[in-house]
Amino acid sequence: MPQPNGSISFILNDREVSLSDIAPTATLLDYLRLERRLTGTKEGCAEGDCGACTVLVGRIAGGRLVYESVNACIRFLGSLQATHVVTVEHLAKDGTLHPVQQAMVDFHGSQCGFCTPGFVMSLYGLWLGNDSPDRADIEKALQGNLCRCTGYEPIVRAAEAAAETRPSEIFDPITRERETITIRLKALTPAETITVRQGEHCLIVPANGEGLATALADNPGATVVAGSTDVGLWVTKQMRPINPVIFINGIAELQQVEETADGLTIGAGVSYSMAYDALSRTFPGLGALINRIGGEQVRNMGTIGGNIANGSPIGDSPPPLIVLDATVTLRSTMGRRTLPLETFFIAYGKQDRKPGEFVESIFVPRLPADDLFAAYKISKRRDEDISALLGAFRISVDNGVVRSARIAFGGMAATPKRATSVEAALIGKPWSEETVLAAQAAFETDYQPLTDWRATSDYRMLAAKNLLMRFFLECGGEPAQLVRYAAGER
Ligand code: FES
Ligand code: FES
Repeated sequence: MPQPNGSISFILNDREVSLSDIAPTATLLDYLRLERRLTGTKEGCAEGDCGACTVLVGRIAGGRLVYESVNACIRFLGSLQATHVVTVEHLAKDGTLHPVQQAMVDFHGSQCGFCTPGFVMSLYGLWLGNDSPDRADIEKALQGNLCRCTGYEPIVRAAEAAAETRPSEIFDPITRERETITIRLKALTPAETITVRQGEHCLIVPANGEGLATALADNPGATVVAGSTDVGLWVTKQMRPINPVIFINGIAELQQVEETADGLTIGAGVSYSMAYDALSRTFPGLGALINRIGGEQVRNMGTIGGNIANGSPIGDSPPPLIVLDATVTLRSTMGRRTLPLETFFIAYGKQDRKPGEFVESIFVPRLPADDLFAAYKISKRRDEDISALLGAFRISVDNGVVRSARIAFGGMAATPKRATSVEAALIGKPWSEETVLAAQAAFETDYQPLTDWRATSDYRMLAAKNLLMRFFLECGGEPAQLVRYAAGER
Protein backbone atom coordinates (compact mmCIF):
# COMPACT_ATOMS: atom_id res chain seq x y z
CA MET A 1 0.00 0.00 0.00
CA PRO A 2 1.51 3.42 -0.92
CA GLN A 3 2.66 5.44 2.07
CA PRO A 4 0.78 8.67 2.75
CA ASN A 5 2.74 11.68 1.52
CA GLY A 6 4.79 13.38 4.18
CA SER A 7 5.65 17.03 4.52
CA ILE A 8 8.58 19.25 5.50
CA SER A 9 7.72 21.50 8.44
CA PHE A 10 9.73 24.43 9.73
CA ILE A 11 9.23 27.89 11.18
CA LEU A 12 9.67 30.81 8.82
CA ASN A 13 10.19 33.99 10.85
CA ASP A 14 7.10 33.88 13.07
CA ARG A 15 4.94 31.26 11.43
CA GLU A 16 5.09 27.55 10.89
CA VAL A 17 4.97 26.19 7.37
CA SER A 18 4.37 22.66 6.23
CA LEU A 19 5.14 21.74 2.62
CA SER A 20 4.05 18.50 1.01
CA ASP A 21 4.30 19.61 -2.61
CA ILE A 22 7.99 20.35 -3.10
CA ALA A 23 10.58 19.14 -5.57
CA PRO A 24 13.84 17.65 -4.25
CA THR A 25 15.69 20.49 -6.01
CA ALA A 26 13.58 23.35 -4.61
CA THR A 27 15.85 25.92 -2.96
CA LEU A 28 15.08 28.04 0.06
CA LEU A 29 15.95 31.18 -1.90
CA ASP A 30 13.40 30.51 -4.65
CA TYR A 31 10.79 29.69 -2.05
CA LEU A 32 11.42 32.91 -0.11
CA ARG A 33 11.48 35.18 -3.12
CA LEU A 34 9.02 33.59 -5.55
CA GLU A 35 6.44 32.05 -3.25
CA ARG A 36 6.61 34.10 -0.06
CA ARG A 37 7.64 37.38 -1.73
CA LEU A 38 10.27 37.87 0.97
CA THR A 39 12.46 39.71 -1.50
CA GLY A 40 14.86 41.17 1.04
CA THR A 41 16.88 38.01 0.50
CA LYS A 42 18.73 38.57 -2.79
CA GLU A 43 20.12 36.34 -5.49
CA GLY A 44 23.61 37.24 -6.65
CA CYS A 45 25.68 34.26 -7.69
CA ALA A 46 23.42 31.28 -6.87
CA GLU A 47 26.48 29.28 -5.87
CA GLY A 48 27.25 30.15 -2.25
CA ASP A 49 29.87 32.77 -3.07
CA CYS A 50 28.47 36.27 -2.66
CA GLY A 51 26.34 36.08 0.50
CA ALA A 52 23.49 38.21 -0.91
CA CYS A 53 21.10 35.38 -0.03
CA THR A 54 22.24 35.00 3.60
CA VAL A 55 19.57 34.01 6.12
CA LEU A 56 19.85 32.49 9.57
CA VAL A 57 18.77 28.93 10.24
CA GLY A 58 18.16 27.91 13.84
CA ARG A 59 18.24 24.27 14.90
CA ILE A 60 18.48 22.22 18.06
CA ALA A 61 22.04 20.99 18.57
CA GLY A 62 22.99 19.21 21.76
CA GLY A 63 19.70 20.32 23.32
CA ARG A 64 20.42 24.00 22.58
CA LEU A 65 18.91 26.28 19.95
CA VAL A 66 21.72 27.60 17.74
CA TYR A 67 21.49 29.98 14.81
CA GLU A 68 23.87 29.91 11.86
CA SER A 69 24.19 32.00 8.73
CA VAL A 70 23.61 29.97 5.57
CA ASN A 71 23.34 30.56 1.82
CA ALA A 72 19.66 30.23 0.90
CA CYS A 73 20.57 29.84 -2.79
CA ILE A 74 22.11 26.40 -2.26
CA ARG A 75 20.05 25.29 0.72
CA PHE A 76 17.29 22.89 -0.27
CA LEU A 77 13.81 23.18 1.22
CA GLY A 78 13.91 19.47 1.98
CA SER A 79 16.77 20.06 4.43
CA LEU A 80 14.78 22.39 6.67
CA GLN A 81 12.71 20.01 8.77
CA ALA A 82 12.56 21.24 12.40
CA THR A 83 14.47 24.45 11.76
CA HIS A 84 13.76 28.16 12.25
CA VAL A 85 14.47 30.21 9.12
CA VAL A 86 15.02 33.89 9.86
CA THR A 87 15.07 36.43 7.03
CA VAL A 88 15.96 40.10 7.09
CA GLU A 89 12.26 41.01 7.21
CA HIS A 90 12.09 39.62 10.75
CA LEU A 91 14.54 42.06 12.30
CA ALA A 92 12.94 45.51 12.39
CA LYS A 93 9.89 46.06 14.58
CA ASP A 94 7.27 48.79 14.21
CA GLY A 95 9.59 50.83 12.02
CA THR A 96 12.53 50.61 14.43
CA LEU A 97 15.63 49.08 12.93
CA HIS A 98 17.53 46.35 14.73
CA PRO A 99 20.93 47.60 16.05
CA VAL A 100 22.83 45.75 13.31
CA GLN A 101 20.67 47.50 10.69
CA GLN A 102 20.94 50.87 12.40
CA ALA A 103 24.72 50.51 12.62
CA MET A 104 24.87 49.89 8.86
CA VAL A 105 23.01 53.20 8.39
CA ASP A 106 25.09 55.11 10.95
CA PHE A 107 28.42 53.93 9.58
CA HIS A 108 27.51 54.22 5.89
CA GLY A 109 27.75 50.48 5.31
CA SER A 110 25.50 50.51 2.23
CA GLN A 111 25.44 52.19 -1.18
CA CYS A 112 23.47 50.40 -3.90
CA GLY A 113 22.09 48.14 -1.18
CA PHE A 114 22.05 44.88 -3.09
CA CYS A 115 24.46 43.13 -0.76
CA THR A 116 23.16 44.84 2.38
CA PRO A 117 20.49 42.37 3.58
CA GLY A 118 23.04 39.57 3.30
CA PHE A 119 25.60 41.55 5.30
CA VAL A 120 22.93 42.41 7.88
CA MET A 121 22.10 38.74 8.34
CA SER A 122 25.75 37.75 8.69
CA LEU A 123 26.22 40.56 11.21
CA TYR A 124 23.08 39.46 13.01
CA GLY A 125 24.43 35.91 13.27
CA LEU A 126 27.65 37.31 14.75
CA TRP A 127 25.73 39.62 17.10
CA LEU A 128 23.70 36.69 18.42
CA GLY A 129 26.64 34.36 18.93
CA ASN A 130 29.44 36.65 20.10
CA ASP A 131 29.10 39.41 22.74
CA SER A 132 32.45 41.03 22.10
CA PRO A 133 33.78 40.20 18.65
CA ASP A 134 37.27 41.36 17.79
CA ARG A 135 38.38 42.39 14.33
CA ALA A 136 39.31 38.82 13.38
CA ASP A 137 35.88 37.52 14.47
CA ILE A 138 34.15 40.18 12.38
CA GLU A 139 36.25 39.52 9.30
CA LYS A 140 35.62 35.79 9.67
CA ALA A 141 31.87 36.34 9.96
CA LEU A 142 31.93 38.46 6.79
CA GLN A 143 34.23 36.24 4.70
CA GLY A 144 31.22 34.94 2.80
CA ASN A 145 29.74 38.35 1.85
CA LEU A 146 30.85 40.40 -1.14
CA CYS A 147 30.21 44.10 -1.69
CA ARG A 148 31.03 45.80 -4.94
CA CYS A 149 30.48 49.44 -3.96
CA THR A 150 30.82 50.31 -0.31
CA GLY A 151 34.03 48.58 0.65
CA TYR A 152 34.37 46.65 3.84
CA GLU A 153 35.77 49.09 6.39
CA PRO A 154 32.44 50.87 7.08
CA ILE A 155 30.76 47.48 7.47
CA VAL A 156 33.39 46.32 9.95
CA ARG A 157 32.85 49.56 11.92
CA ALA A 158 29.11 48.89 11.87
CA ALA A 159 29.74 45.43 13.32
CA GLU A 160 31.87 46.91 16.11
CA ALA A 161 29.20 49.49 16.89
CA ALA A 162 26.36 46.94 16.85
CA ALA A 163 28.25 44.83 19.39
CA GLU A 164 27.88 47.69 21.89
CA THR A 165 24.11 47.15 22.02
CA ARG A 166 23.02 43.97 23.76
CA PRO A 167 19.69 42.12 23.73
CA SER A 168 18.70 43.32 27.20
CA GLU A 169 18.59 46.89 25.88
CA ILE A 170 16.43 46.41 22.80
CA PHE A 171 13.76 44.32 21.14
CA ASP A 172 15.35 41.30 19.54
CA PRO A 173 13.03 38.71 18.02
CA ILE A 174 15.23 35.67 18.57
CA THR A 175 16.14 36.58 22.15
CA ARG A 176 12.49 37.09 22.98
CA GLU A 177 11.28 33.93 21.29
CA ARG A 178 14.13 31.57 22.09
CA GLU A 179 12.28 29.40 24.60
CA THR A 180 9.13 29.15 22.51
CA ILE A 181 11.07 28.36 19.35
CA THR A 182 13.03 25.66 21.16
CA ILE A 183 9.84 23.94 22.24
CA ARG A 184 8.30 24.22 18.77
CA LEU A 185 11.39 22.86 17.02
CA LYS A 186 11.63 19.92 19.39
CA ALA A 187 8.00 19.13 18.56
CA LEU A 188 8.85 19.18 14.84
CA THR A 189 11.87 16.86 15.18
CA PRO A 190 10.81 13.68 13.38
CA ALA A 191 10.80 10.32 15.15
CA GLU A 192 10.50 8.48 11.84
CA THR A 193 11.60 8.89 8.25
CA ILE A 194 9.69 11.53 6.29
CA THR A 195 9.08 10.82 2.61
CA VAL A 196 7.73 13.53 0.31
CA ARG A 197 6.68 12.54 -3.20
CA GLN A 198 5.81 14.80 -6.09
CA GLY A 199 5.05 12.81 -9.22
CA GLU A 200 8.23 10.93 -10.09
CA HIS A 201 10.21 12.91 -7.57
CA CYS A 202 10.95 11.83 -4.07
CA LEU A 203 12.78 13.36 -1.15
CA ILE A 204 13.53 11.46 2.02
CA VAL A 205 14.44 12.78 5.47
CA PRO A 206 15.55 9.93 7.75
CA ALA A 207 15.22 10.46 11.48
CA ASN A 208 18.33 8.47 12.40
CA GLY A 209 21.20 6.37 11.06
CA GLU A 210 19.11 3.24 10.85
CA GLY A 211 16.48 5.08 8.81
CA LEU A 212 19.21 6.38 6.52
CA ALA A 213 20.59 2.87 5.98
CA THR A 214 17.10 1.59 5.14
CA ALA A 215 16.35 4.52 2.81
CA LEU A 216 19.62 3.94 0.97
CA ALA A 217 19.01 0.18 0.73
CA ASP A 218 15.60 0.92 -0.81
CA ASN A 219 17.02 3.65 -3.07
CA PRO A 220 20.65 2.72 -3.82
CA GLY A 221 20.92 5.35 -6.54
CA ALA A 222 19.75 8.19 -4.32
CA THR A 223 21.80 11.37 -3.88
CA VAL A 224 22.74 11.77 -0.23
CA VAL A 225 22.87 15.44 0.72
CA ALA A 226 24.41 16.78 3.92
CA GLY A 227 25.45 20.43 3.61
CA SER A 228 24.57 20.85 -0.10
CA THR A 229 27.54 23.16 -0.70
CA ASP A 230 28.46 20.93 -3.63
CA VAL A 231 25.16 19.34 -4.65
CA GLY A 232 23.51 22.78 -4.50
CA LEU A 233 25.65 23.81 -7.46
CA TRP A 234 24.77 20.66 -9.40
CA VAL A 235 21.26 22.06 -9.34
CA THR A 236 21.73 25.83 -9.67
CA LYS A 237 24.62 25.75 -12.16
CA GLN A 238 24.34 22.45 -14.03
CA MET A 239 20.56 22.01 -13.83
CA ARG A 240 21.21 18.39 -12.92
CA PRO A 241 18.18 16.41 -11.86
CA ILE A 242 18.82 14.77 -8.48
CA ASN A 243 16.24 12.22 -7.63
CA PRO A 244 15.57 10.64 -5.25
CA VAL A 245 17.33 12.72 -2.61
CA ILE A 246 18.07 11.80 0.99
CA PHE A 247 18.70 14.76 3.32
CA ILE A 248 20.84 13.79 6.29
CA ASN A 249 21.62 17.16 7.90
CA GLY A 250 18.99 16.68 10.61
CA ILE A 251 20.28 13.32 11.90
CA ALA A 252 21.57 14.06 15.41
CA GLU A 253 23.66 10.89 15.75
CA LEU A 254 25.73 11.91 12.72
CA GLN A 255 26.47 15.30 14.27
CA GLN A 256 28.67 14.18 17.13
CA VAL A 257 32.34 14.96 17.67
CA GLU A 258 33.78 12.50 20.15
CA GLU A 259 37.18 13.22 21.69
CA THR A 260 39.10 10.36 23.30
CA ALA A 261 42.71 9.74 24.31
CA ASP A 262 43.22 8.08 20.92
CA GLY A 263 41.76 10.74 18.67
CA LEU A 264 38.64 12.40 17.31
CA THR A 265 35.61 10.69 15.81
CA ILE A 266 33.71 13.09 13.58
CA GLY A 267 30.20 12.18 12.48
CA ALA A 268 29.45 12.54 8.77
CA GLY A 269 26.92 15.31 9.48
CA VAL A 270 29.36 17.51 11.40
CA SER A 271 29.88 20.83 9.64
CA TYR A 272 33.24 22.57 9.42
CA SER A 273 32.01 25.10 11.97
CA MET A 274 30.96 22.36 14.39
CA ALA A 275 34.28 20.55 14.02
CA TYR A 276 36.41 23.67 14.23
CA ASP A 277 37.00 23.85 18.00
CA ALA A 278 37.98 20.22 18.44
CA LEU A 279 40.07 20.04 15.27
CA SER A 280 41.93 23.30 15.82
CA ARG A 281 42.65 22.36 19.46
CA THR A 282 44.01 18.95 18.45
CA PHE A 283 45.63 19.88 15.13
CA PRO A 284 46.29 23.65 15.04
CA GLY A 285 47.32 23.45 11.38
CA LEU A 286 43.86 22.14 10.52
CA GLY A 287 42.11 25.02 12.29
CA ALA A 288 43.93 27.54 10.14
CA LEU A 289 43.01 25.55 7.04
CA ILE A 290 39.30 25.36 7.93
CA ASN A 291 39.20 29.16 8.07
CA ARG A 292 40.23 29.17 4.42
CA ILE A 293 37.30 26.96 3.34
CA GLY A 294 34.45 28.92 1.77
CA GLY A 295 32.95 31.66 3.91
CA GLU A 296 31.17 31.41 7.24
CA GLN A 297 27.91 30.36 5.57
CA VAL A 298 29.60 27.55 3.64
CA ARG A 299 31.41 26.34 6.76
CA ASN A 300 28.11 26.34 8.64
CA MET A 301 26.58 24.09 5.98
CA GLY A 302 29.40 22.02 4.49
CA THR A 303 30.48 18.82 6.22
CA ILE A 304 33.78 16.97 6.34
CA GLY A 305 31.84 13.75 5.64
CA GLY A 306 30.39 15.26 2.48
CA ASN A 307 33.77 16.55 1.37
CA ILE A 308 35.06 12.97 1.61
CA ALA A 309 32.00 11.19 0.23
CA ASN A 310 31.89 13.20 -2.99
CA GLY A 311 35.46 12.15 -3.81
CA SER A 312 36.51 15.43 -5.38
CA PRO A 313 40.22 15.58 -6.24
CA ILE A 314 40.29 19.17 -4.96
CA GLY A 315 38.41 18.72 -1.68
CA ASP A 316 40.25 20.48 1.14
CA SER A 317 39.85 17.89 3.90
CA PRO A 318 41.18 14.64 2.38
CA PRO A 319 44.91 15.51 2.00
CA PRO A 320 45.43 16.55 5.65
CA LEU A 321 43.24 13.71 6.91
CA ILE A 322 45.21 11.20 4.81
CA VAL A 323 48.54 12.34 6.25
CA LEU A 324 47.00 12.19 9.73
CA ASP A 325 46.20 8.51 9.02
CA ALA A 326 42.43 8.98 9.32
CA THR A 327 40.01 6.10 8.78
CA VAL A 328 36.48 6.26 7.42
CA THR A 329 33.58 4.12 8.64
CA LEU A 330 30.92 3.16 6.12
CA ARG A 331 27.53 1.86 7.18
CA SER A 332 24.67 0.07 5.48
CA THR A 333 21.86 -2.26 6.51
CA MET A 334 24.52 -5.02 6.30
CA GLY A 335 26.67 -3.47 9.02
CA ARG A 336 29.77 -1.30 9.17
CA ARG A 337 33.27 -1.45 7.76
CA THR A 338 36.24 0.80 8.44
CA LEU A 339 39.05 1.48 5.98
CA PRO A 340 41.99 3.86 5.71
CA LEU A 341 40.78 7.09 4.16
CA GLU A 342 43.67 6.89 1.70
CA THR A 343 42.24 3.75 0.11
CA PHE A 344 38.70 5.17 -0.11
CA PHE A 345 39.63 7.19 -3.20
CA ILE A 346 40.03 4.72 -6.07
CA ALA A 347 39.94 6.85 -9.21
CA TYR A 348 38.37 10.05 -10.47
CA GLY A 349 34.69 9.96 -9.44
CA LYS A 350 35.08 6.46 -7.98
CA GLN A 351 35.22 5.71 -4.27
CA ASP A 352 35.27 2.46 -2.35
CA ARG A 353 31.60 2.74 -1.44
CA LYS A 354 29.23 -0.10 -2.23
CA PRO A 355 25.57 0.42 -3.16
CA GLY A 356 23.62 1.12 0.02
CA GLU A 357 26.66 2.31 1.99
CA PHE A 358 27.05 5.78 3.42
CA VAL A 359 29.91 7.54 5.20
CA GLU A 360 29.03 7.40 8.89
CA SER A 361 32.11 8.86 10.57
CA ILE A 362 35.79 9.70 10.26
CA PHE A 363 38.33 8.85 12.94
CA VAL A 364 41.46 11.00 13.19
CA PRO A 365 44.18 9.64 15.51
CA ARG A 366 46.08 12.12 17.66
CA LEU A 367 49.53 13.09 16.49
CA PRO A 368 52.53 11.86 18.47
CA ALA A 369 53.94 14.85 20.37
CA ASP A 370 57.06 15.23 18.25
CA ASP A 371 55.44 14.94 14.80
CA LEU A 372 55.46 18.06 12.66
CA PHE A 373 52.30 18.77 10.67
CA ALA A 374 51.03 21.52 8.38
CA ALA A 375 48.57 21.97 5.52
CA TYR A 376 48.75 24.70 2.88
CA LYS A 377 45.99 25.80 0.54
CA ILE A 378 46.85 27.58 -2.71
CA SER A 379 43.97 29.37 -4.43
CA LYS A 380 43.53 32.47 -6.56
CA ARG A 381 41.64 34.31 -3.81
CA ARG A 382 42.49 34.00 -0.16
CA ASP A 383 38.88 33.60 0.98
CA GLU A 384 35.99 31.72 -0.56
CA ASP A 385 37.88 29.93 -3.26
CA ILE A 386 38.44 26.38 -4.40
CA SER A 387 41.99 25.12 -4.13
CA ALA A 388 44.26 25.02 -7.15
CA LEU A 389 46.27 22.65 -5.00
CA LEU A 390 46.48 21.79 -1.35
CA GLY A 391 49.46 20.13 0.28
CA ALA A 392 49.59 18.41 3.66
CA PHE A 393 52.83 17.41 5.33
CA ARG A 394 53.65 15.32 8.38
CA ILE A 395 57.11 14.34 9.42
CA SER A 396 58.93 13.03 12.44
CA VAL A 397 62.59 13.72 12.99
CA ASP A 398 64.88 11.74 15.28
CA ASN A 399 68.36 13.10 16.07
CA GLY A 400 68.18 15.28 12.99
CA VAL A 401 67.21 12.40 10.70
CA VAL A 402 63.77 12.00 9.09
CA ARG A 403 62.21 8.95 10.70
CA SER A 404 58.86 9.02 8.88
CA ALA A 405 57.09 11.22 6.35
CA ARG A 406 53.55 11.38 5.01
CA ILE A 407 52.74 13.89 2.31
CA ALA A 408 49.49 14.17 0.34
CA PHE A 409 48.11 16.62 -2.18
CA GLY A 410 44.80 17.60 -3.65
CA GLY A 411 44.66 19.19 -7.10
CA MET A 412 47.70 17.28 -8.34
CA ALA A 413 46.04 14.04 -9.54
CA ALA A 414 42.63 12.52 -10.25
CA THR A 415 42.20 11.77 -6.53
CA PRO A 416 43.67 13.10 -3.30
CA LYS A 417 47.03 11.28 -3.43
CA ARG A 418 50.16 10.57 -1.36
CA ALA A 419 53.55 11.72 -2.60
CA THR A 420 55.24 8.41 -1.87
CA SER A 421 58.37 9.12 -3.92
CA VAL A 422 58.92 12.41 -2.11
CA GLU A 423 58.39 10.64 1.20
CA ALA A 424 60.97 7.99 0.23
CA ALA A 425 63.43 10.72 -0.74
CA LEU A 426 63.16 12.19 2.76
CA ILE A 427 63.07 9.15 5.02
CA GLY A 428 66.40 8.22 6.53
CA LYS A 429 68.05 11.47 5.39
CA PRO A 430 69.13 14.44 7.49
CA TRP A 431 66.27 16.96 7.89
CA SER A 432 68.18 19.62 6.02
CA GLU A 433 67.77 22.09 3.22
CA GLU A 434 69.94 19.90 0.98
CA THR A 435 67.63 16.92 1.55
CA VAL A 436 64.55 18.99 0.80
CA LEU A 437 66.06 20.44 -2.37
CA ALA A 438 66.92 16.94 -3.56
CA ALA A 439 63.50 15.54 -2.64
CA GLN A 440 61.66 18.24 -4.62
CA ALA A 441 62.51 16.45 -7.87
CA ALA A 442 60.56 13.39 -6.74
CA PHE A 443 57.28 15.31 -7.10
CA GLU A 444 57.62 14.71 -10.83
CA THR A 445 57.49 10.97 -10.24
CA ASP A 446 54.43 11.24 -7.99
CA TYR A 447 52.30 13.67 -9.97
CA GLN A 448 51.49 14.77 -13.51
CA PRO A 449 49.03 17.58 -12.72
CA LEU A 450 46.55 18.96 -15.21
CA THR A 451 46.27 22.45 -16.57
CA ASP A 452 42.87 24.01 -15.98
CA TRP A 453 41.49 27.46 -15.31
CA ARG A 454 42.65 27.35 -11.70
CA ALA A 455 46.32 26.75 -12.50
CA THR A 456 48.67 25.39 -15.12
CA SER A 457 50.42 22.07 -14.73
CA ASP A 458 53.78 23.85 -14.39
CA TYR A 459 52.43 26.19 -11.74
CA ARG A 460 51.03 23.30 -9.70
CA MET A 461 54.31 21.39 -9.87
CA LEU A 462 56.40 24.40 -8.89
CA ALA A 463 54.02 25.33 -6.06
CA ALA A 464 54.06 21.76 -4.70
CA LYS A 465 57.86 21.76 -4.60
CA ASN A 466 57.92 25.15 -2.94
CA LEU A 467 55.38 24.06 -0.32
CA LEU A 468 57.76 21.31 0.77
CA MET A 469 60.44 23.97 1.24
CA ARG A 470 57.96 26.18 3.09
CA PHE A 471 57.15 23.31 5.42
CA PHE A 472 60.83 22.76 6.07
CA LEU A 473 61.45 26.43 6.74
CA GLU A 474 58.44 26.77 9.02
CA CYS A 475 58.88 23.55 10.93
CA GLY A 476 62.47 22.57 10.72
CA GLY A 477 64.68 25.22 9.14
CA GLU A 478 67.26 27.09 11.10
CA PRO A 479 66.53 30.80 11.65
CA ALA A 480 69.54 31.68 9.50
CA GLN A 481 68.03 29.74 6.60
CA LEU A 482 64.73 31.55 7.01
CA VAL A 483 66.49 34.90 6.81
CA ARG A 484 68.51 33.90 3.77
CA TYR A 485 65.46 32.60 1.98
CA ALA A 486 63.40 35.70 2.71
CA ALA A 487 66.23 37.92 1.51
CA GLY A 488 66.17 36.19 -1.85
CA GLU A 489 69.69 34.81 -1.64
CA ARG A 490 68.71 31.66 -3.47
FE1 FES B 1 25.35 34.42 -3.89
FE2 FES B 1 23.66 32.85 -2.60
S1 FES B 1 23.21 34.20 -4.20
S2 FES B 1 25.70 33.18 -2.14
FE1 FES C 1 26.37 47.85 -3.51
FE2 FES C 1 27.39 46.42 -1.55
S1 FES C 1 26.35 48.33 -1.41
S2 FES C 1 27.16 45.82 -3.60
